[in-house]
Amino acid sequence: MTPMERYRRDCSAFFARLGTEGPQPLVFGDGRWDRPVLMLIGEAPGEQEALMGRPFVGKAGKNLETFLQALRMRREDLYVTNVVKIRPTKLSAAGRIVNRPPSLEERALFTPWLMREVALVRPKALVTLGNVALRAFVADSVGRRHGAWSRAVVQAPDAAAFTLPLFSLYHPASVIYNPALKTVYAADLRALAASLGEGSDAPGDI
Ligand code: URA
Repeated sequence: MTPMERYRRDCSAFFARLGTEGPQPLVFGDGRWDRPVLMLIGEAPGEQEALMGRPFVGKAGKNLETFLQALRMRREDLYVTNVVKIRPTKLSAAGRIVNRPPSLEERALFTPWLMREVALVRPKALVTLGNVALRAFVADSVGRRHGAWSRAVVQAPDAAAFTLPLFSLYHPASVIYNPALKTVYAADLRALAASLGEGSDAPGDI
């Protein structure tokens, strides 16, 4: 059993005991889990992700393509995950099951598992998409931190804390709802690509 398989087993067992997993399985991260250059962290799986058991597929996968193209990377070069690993849902007025933002309680339950995941993957740097992912590490808002490097404190349960460089981006969904953010998001991506292109140790200097 690999360390990642053990992590998934332990995380599944924890949420099965809590009874919060529901009928859908947890959607774990995927990609390169042994010291990739980047670990990309989103908010929570949506409908397609829950169906396919993989983060950032369907519409969100198209956003990921834009991200990868800007960075000249392939999906398998990085590790992609979410803070919350179940699809948060609610009933719409029309009686349909739709996505909702993860609750504070869900975020608090999943954050120690995210920290374990970061400690296991040990990327060179983190890229967070939106406030939910940013606030797992830094008590600030993406409105203030977007497009810039911060230092994330990674405190996994039962392990020594360490820090990693963290680049904060708006969540691609917020760019869809607020088209004015499109140029901001594009400029932030260019800034990230430029700082990664400055040399493989550029994020480490933050
Ligand atoms: N899909 C994901 O996996 N995560 C997000 O944050 C949004 C869509």
